[in-house]
Amino acid sequence: MSVSKQSLLFSPLTIRGVTLKNRIVVSPMCQYVCKDGIVNDWHLVNYGSFATGGAGLVVVEATGVEPRGRISPGCPGLWNDEQIEPWKRVTSFLKAQGCVAGIQIAHAGRKASTVAPWRGKDSIDDKDGGWPTVGPSAIAFGDGVTKVPKAATIEDIEEIKRSFVSACERAVKAGFEVIEFHFAHGYLVSTFLSPVTNKRTDKYGGSLENRMRLGLEIAENVRKALPQNIVIGARVSVTDYAENGWDISQTVEFAKQLKKLGLDFVDCSSGGIISNVDYHPLNTNEVQLKGATKVQKEAGIATAAVGKITDPLFAEKILQENAATLIFIGRAFLNNPHWPYLAADVLANDKTFKYPNSYEWCIGWKGFAKWRKDILKDSNNN
Ligand SMILES: Cc1cc2nc3c(=O)[nH]c(=O)nc-3n(C[C@H](O)[C@H](O)[C@H](O)COP(=O)(O)O)c2cc1C
Repeated sequence: MSVSKQSLLFSPLTIRGVTLKNRIVVSPMCQYVCKDGIVNDWHLVNYGSFATGGAGLVVVEATGVEPRGRISPGCPGLWNDEQIEPWKRVTSFLKAQGCVAGIQIAHAGRKASTVAPWRGKDSIDDKDGGWPTVGPSAIAFGDGVTKVPKAATIEDIEEIKRSFVSACERAVKAGFEVIEFHFAHGYLVSTFLSPVTNKRTDKYGGSLENRMRLGLEIAENVRKALPQNIVIGARVSVTDYAENGWDISQTVEFAKQLKKLGLDFVDCSSGGIISNVDYHPLNTNEVQLKGATKVQKEAGIATAAVGKITDPLFAEKILQENAATLIFIGRAFLNNPHWPYLAADVLANDKTFKYPNSYEWCIGWKGFAKWRKDILKDSNNN
């Protein structure tokens, strides 16, 4: 595909007065290196590099609303005020680079209390530093995550709802302008949505309306509590890949309701809810992209496409076809935190890309176009 006019990938987007300088978003990616839920120098450098690399928005990793809602002991949290300031260091740096700071607010539910992935994926026993988990029903995830969650009582649910509001309020104090709820991948809210994991017989289980209730109540309460200029979205799994499970049509219904409550976007991922299936949030994009397109069209809410997007031309095509509004990129940013530089080169007629000042004078377009062409030609020939 050739791009004959200003690329959409590098076109700014304003939502609720928050302007992203481009549509390139760093997808949330857990780092597992916090202590007591507090972020550190690793997070500053990790997220900072994506900002110097030119991302329009960085959505930082799943951040727990309460200690038992962390995936691992190394995951960050916003359940106390002490956790605000270290995040502020990260958001201030991002902002100084013209990058909007977003955060994924999460509760890991029955997939909490597990080891970091490089140590396996197993549950941590309470006696070894783990903690009791909670879910809609007392059913373990399996596949090493053997801990059986407590079926949440109404009191637990009320407390979790309050924790979401407090954590989001702290996120705003920490300088985040975009909040993304983690309602995907088999974590707490996702397990309430799915009939596969939600076997409740009260008002939070059974019908679609009941299964959506927790997510919608969280969305409503947080939207009411936060200033109107804070952008709020939700990541959902568009399908469980399970017969009689959560699927795209239920996702569309959920997205319609989220929109009514004032949410601004839906980030369309998939799976993660049942173990031992071939499909996984890391190895699909077609299904997720189809979901993003359908949700955007039928629910009338902006969507994010995510999953194996590495080619700038593919990213541009998604936007040109109005298949999604935002492009979330995960592993391609880990591989190359300056991925947008590559994208600006590939969408070569886009000369609006602005490097950080320290780089612009030596690798920017002005006066260096020929030199850039030569090195690109050399690298293509090698
Ligand atoms: C190291 C790593 C950590 C991740 N952590 C999260 C997370 O905190 N929250 C989330 O919703 N997805 C998480 N994901 C999924 C990514 O956000 C993204 O959806 C997935 O990697 C697919 O995009 P990609 O093909 O561009 O990497 C993680 C992925 C990776 C590779």
